Amino acid sequence: MINRRQFLQITGAGAAGLLSSGLTSLANDHWAHALVKPSSGFKADLDIALKATADEISILPGEPTGVWRFQGTMLKGDRASLVNLERSYLGPTIRARTGQKVRIRFTNELADQSIVHWHGLHVPADMDGHPRLVIPAGETYVYEFEIRNRAGTYWYHPHPHGLTGPQVYGGLAGLFLVSDDEEEAAGLPSGEYDIPLVLQDRAFDRRNQLVYLSGHRMEQMNGFLGDWIMVNGHPDFILPVATRAYRLRLLNGSNSRIYRLAWKDNSPLTVIGTDGGLLENPVQRRYVMLGPGERLELWADFSRYPVGSEAALVSLPFDGGMMGGGRMGGGMMGGGGGGFVLPNGAEFPVFKVKVNRREESNLTLPQQLSTIKRYDPADAVNREDPKRFHLVMRHMAWTINGRTFQMEQVAPEERVAMNTLEVWEFITEGGGMGMMGGMDMPHPIHLHGMQFQVLQRRGVMHAGYVDEGWKDTVLLMPGERVRVLVRFGDYPGLFLYHCHNLEHEDMGMMRNYLVEAKTSDA
Ligand code: C2O
Ligand code: CU
Ligand code: CU
Repeated sequence: MINRRQFLQITGAGAAGLLSSGLTSLANDHWAHALVKPSSGFKADLDIALKATADEISILPGEPTGVWRFQGTMLKGDRASLVNLERSYLGPTIRARTGQKVRIRFTNELADQSIVHWHGLHVPADMDGHPRLVIPAGETYVYEFEIRNRAGTYWYHPHPHGLTGPQVYGGLAGLFLVSDDEEEAAGLPSGEYDIPLVLQDRAFDRRNQLVYLSGHRMEQMNGFLGDWIMVNGHPDFILPVATRAYRLRLLNGSNSRIYRLAWKDNSPLTVIGTDGGLLENPVQRRYVMLGPGERLELWADFSRYPVGSEAALVSLPFDGGMMGGGRMGGGMMGGGGGGFVLPNGAEFPVFKVKVNRREESNLTLPQQLSTIKRYDPADAVNREDPKRFHLVMRHMAWTINGRTFQMEQVAPEERVAMNTLEVWEFITEGGGMGMMGGMDMPHPIHLHGMQFQVLQRRGVMHAGYVDEGWKDTVLLMPGERVRVLVRFGDYPGLFLYHCHNLEHEDMGMMRNYLVEAKTSDA
């Protein structure tokens, strides 16, 4: 017996890659309505004004750097819920608790259109910052949503189609930290011992101004790579610590750089959290891979270090699968944007830690951090027939199943029924066959709106993945395939999934998925 929905899924999977079949456009759909005014029925616990604006900030010695940045003002709610980072281009850190209602009035003071996306948060479709909701310069979009996520390290950044890369690069990004009772009960370092670290790379010209892509297609195919590694907006970052345990929250906020992180002295990393919050139990890794958009939380205990000593987090070398001679480190592109000065996979220091004072604390690493209910693949509506998404190059553009982004288009395999569990498989192997002669690249694949679980990884066995926890972004290195289990709960409408290499995303390596509210066709 095959019901209509399964039939659509089967035919949908069969149609993958055929550009002409079964695509639906949702023009004039009823989900998109920009909120221009706060709604009276929404009782906000936090009410924040957030603007994106041009500014200048001192980053390197000498002339200040022109940036774009988010600036926030707390209109209502706990002042501690909006934390400005000193001397940084990064936007304010927003802190909220699960269950709180948040209103954010976003005003676009840039010259271009923009819209803000809350990366990792589970919010209704018209609160998610889909690019069709962009607002022009001078206008305001009012977001109102309830925090339904568990505690975790989420973040926000612009999402106008084709401009996400340059806007994030210009400085538009910030953290969105959610806390809850379970996290509080875990007994982790808090307050000044809970430290977010946003990793990014930048390139500067001789007058200290940011350099982005030169416009060369090959550069965009690789993605932007800067030769300055920034932490929280600062080059040559040093973290002063006491002789005790810390919680370090790492976000890879880079456009396309991947980090293979390790402690310089080879001691193992203790990982306690991923994109969607705390793991059930801590895990140890010799190194961890961190793709653009991903987060990892570490337990870092400096109690065995003498005062005055140093530690460092480094990025170890790996095969970055770059195109067009990047691996040779050659200057094929003429150095525009510094892209090949420090290729993906180069070895470099990320930040230094200076142990500068003695402090006693009796915190010990908790063995139970949280509880995670694993999805059962047997509950997936397509358990026998995973939806396959091939990450392939077509006509000098990265695509998903041969398609590039169309504002409101959904293909058959991109339709899902609300409150169902599905298996999605992302596949990089053979992705670059064709024009570029079989070159594959890494792709960090991100789903909007949902946290998912990694079911299985095949291809290359890297030891540096942390697939144990909730994820919204999963890194695939060349030759890999990854199966994830995702449950499309609560909110109907149009959401995005895309490569979080922001240059890939901007060239259209992004698609919609549509969550349909109808309960059953059977
Ligand atoms: Cu952080 Cu659509 O992404
Ligand atoms: Cu997102
Ligand atoms: Cu990609």
